[in-house]
Amino acid sequence: MARIPKETVDQIIHHADIVEVVGDFVSLKKKGQNMWACCPFHHEKSPSFSVAPAKGLYKCFGCGKAGGVVQFIMDIEGTSYVEALKYLAKKYGIDVQEEEKTPEQQLAQNEKDSQFIVSNWAKDHYHRLLEHDDEGQSVGWSYLRQRGLNQTTISTFELGYSLDQWDNLLKSATAAGYEQKYLEKTGLVVVKEDDNGQDTGRRYDRFRGRVMFPIHNVSGRVIGFGARTLKPHDKTAKYLNSPESEIYHKSDVLYGLYQARQAVRSEEQCYLVEGYLDVLSLHQGGVKNVVSTSGTSLTDGQIRLVKRYTDNVTVLYDGDAAGIRASLRGIDMLLEGGLNVRVVLFPDGDDPDSYIRKVGDQRFKDYLETASQDFIQFKTDLVSREAAHDPVKKAEAIREVLQSIAKVPDPIKRQVFLQQTSQTFGIDEQVIISEYNKLARQPTAKPGTSNGGTSTGSSGSGAGFQPETRNQSLRPSRQLSPEEEAEALMYGASPDDLAGGSDATEELEPVPDILERCEREVVRLLLLYSAQPLAPEVSVAQYLLEQLDDTTFKTGIYADMLHLCREELNQGRWPEVRTLIQHGRADIRSVVAELATEKYELSPNWTTHQIYVPRELDVLQPACDNAILRLNKVNVERELAVRLEALRHPTDEAEMMENLQTIHLLKQMDNQLAGLLGTVIPRLSL
Ligand code: GTP
Ligand code: MN
Repeated sequence: MARIPKETVDQIIHHADIVEVVGDFVSLKKKGQNMWACCPFHHEKSPSFSVAPAKGLYKCFGCGKAGGVVQFIMDIEGTSYVEALKYLAKKYGIDVQEEEKTPEQQLAQNEKDSQFIVSNWAKDHYHRLLEHDDEGQSVGWSYLRQRGLNQTTISTFELGYSLDQWDNLLKSATAAGYEQKYLEKTGLVVVKEDDNGQDTGRRYDRFRGRVMFPIHNVSGRVIGFGARTLKPHDKTAKYLNSPESEIYHKSDVLYGLYQARQAVRSEEQCYLVEGYLDVLSLHQGGVKNVVSTSGTSLTDGQIRLVKRYTDNVTVLYDGDAAGIRASLRGIDMLLEGGLNVRVVLFPDGDDPDSYIRKVGDQRFKDYLETASQDFIQFKTDLVSREAAHDPVKKAEAIREVLQSIAKVPDPIKRQVFLQQTSQTFGIDEQVIISEYNKLARQPTAKPGTSNGGTSTGSSGSGAGFQPETRNQSLRPSRQLSPEEEAEALMYGASPDDLAGGSDATEELEPVPDILERCEREVVRLLLLYSAQPLAPEVSVAQYLLEQLDDTTFKTGIYADMLHLCREELNQGRWPEVRTLIQHGRADIRSVVAELATEKYELSPNWTTHQIYVPRELDVLQPACDNAILRLNKVNVERELAVRLEALRHPTDEAEMMENLQTIHLLKQMDNQLAGLLGTVIPRLSL
């Protein structure tokens, strides 16, 4: 079946550079001899997809996909060997002297190839009409010129025009030897059905008298079309789009990404707009890293696509309030996808296209720089403005912002955002954190993930973006003062929700239970203050581990972490966040991150906010003692409960006596511990 001569195949393989080829689809980062990225074939959060330039191979250690350049194109595009070779030949400017084949033979490779080929032909056909046909020129071309688009842009985006006739495309395609079947499958031709859904045998072109915007996949193949009517008072839709097909999955496509991808990568930034014409105008104006959702709401697939090239997205908004409100949810999804999101708002009545035409390229670029705002900050400002001077609205506004923050998978970023929120609203951070925890615990906060009863929830779609830890709640590092508590209540917190340490919360929240919290606290102190000296010769880590002697923890993860800390110390290293955050186990990394972000001193940024920093540092000794005493007390109480229970089902006399003795001892210990606990600073108690 090989139709490309062997010498040509060799030439293609010789020229194709695996790093360049793969690099068109993912952002590769060099590490050691190889290049790494998140795998484009399965969802993952940390890179297990590698390219070995010397060997000309790629391999994913996650899903097992592997091969050479040609295989990569076959895998990523779902095309045949021959189509993959043709793709590479085109990329490297190699002439493929195919043996002359009829279109039927060309179409014979596989189903997807056939649809690609006919779509590509249609794109050329529409483009020819735009450039050379009378109607194409007088109607299509003049419209595009009037919209300010130049020849380069028209060529880059391969724009076209469909004649205002019922079957121009159908006839031309048939005459050129293309099978009707594929015209129908790609939606270029519509099958006329009667009222009962029966095929009437009639066929007609879907796109008529419209400017054609070919939609490319990331490798530049045409997979569908958007088409704009030119009749201002047309009763039909302003835009018509190709229907879904085997090659066109709307939810996995961003218009313009093929033309934008290099710039997105080099600028490390992707601008997101709504319309086809916004993409074209900005690209022409020199903002080449721009893509469009084509007016539909953002999907997980599109977010994953962007994430292959960059982590930074800036959403460009038309300035009307309703539009902004409507798209807030889409932005939350971007956050959930782990992207850094910024927002640029245009003056009311302008969209990116009209604005760049109004102010010119340079001023437009300046505007992007100066007007762009971090999304959370943007949302905070927006809702706080709406709620100004109205405490009830303000409480609602805060909750809205916190809901967005809850979507951010990175705990460190969450912490930063919580701090900003507290500043913008002028409300104590601990109050914000309590409120946040309240939301994060609500089943509705994360639909389809942690709480949905059904097992799969949003199967497939969102799976790649679930944060490693489901428990996004943050614990206040100290209890609230009476004033703060009052303020929190004013803003809608219920008494039960205040302060991680209140007994009411314990009842509300069976997990983590009290023992887990005690163990967690010990681990937190261990990690955060590891090397801090308590006495001249003893550091926090040494002190705590000595106090614990050979105790093992009972809560799985903290038991493991205690063990880890001991190992580190035995190896002569401090058990520190810095090292343990790199741990091979994701659950460990995520607990470390959570613990680390409960306090601010880890990030150098926080040195300017020395509000809480000195507190715990200054009282490390009582903090450690408190943690150990609490832990011991809880353990004693547990043991006591077990013994008391055993008393109710006595076996033999001797055992009962022994039990009674133990109970007596345990009770003494419990009292002692309570006494000791009373002497350490209660404020730091859990
Ligand atoms: P112009 O109005 O010519 O400036 O085009 P535009 O691309 O700026 O369109 P607009 O801002 O009105 O809409 C944004 C996007 O939404 C468009 O690019 C289309 O993808 C989509 N869209 C707009 N109107 C329709 C419609 O009637 N039907 C469909 N399917 N999509 C539409
Ligand atoms: Mn527009």
